Amino acid sequence: MLADETLQRLLAAARAARERAYAPYSSFAVGAALLDEQGRIHAGCNVENAAYPQGQCAEASAIAQLVLAGGRRILAAVVVAVAAEPVTPCGGCRQRLREFADDDCPVWVADLTAVRARHSLGALLPFSFGPAHLCP
Ligand code: THU
Repeated sequence: MLADETLQRLLAAARAARERAYAPYSSFAVGAALLDEQGRIHAGCNVENAAYPQGQCAEASAIAQLVLAGGRRILAAVVVAVAAEPVTPCGGCRQRLREFADDDCPVWVADLTAVRARHSLGALLPFSFGPAHLCP
């Protein structure tokens, strides 16, 4: 169970990261924040590229920060974007999260003022392929 104070810190980190998004092509800014196994928070934003497919999602940026800091597990994730529908991680980022997170990892989806939804990673990416398939 995630303490409310931790969720608030994740939301603040994701919102601050979203402010740094580099999204000149889509104008769709996204921020993400991840809680690691040491209780630390790692954030990231989307970074687009003139060669469109080379752009990177906010979740991928946050994962890179977590790994660089020595983190190996994701205990909770928050994604912040502004859209009519709550913005859940794209398919590729669900798999990226899966590398470091269990099925019960909460994925909170929020905008600038409110939490819009809470899903488990297992609900977003059921019957997933993961590290245990390669290293049983
Ligand atoms: N984007 C993310 O950063 N995370 C998601 O989960 C969905 C999409 C970014 C990618 C691109 O820079 C912009 O949002 C529009 O797709």
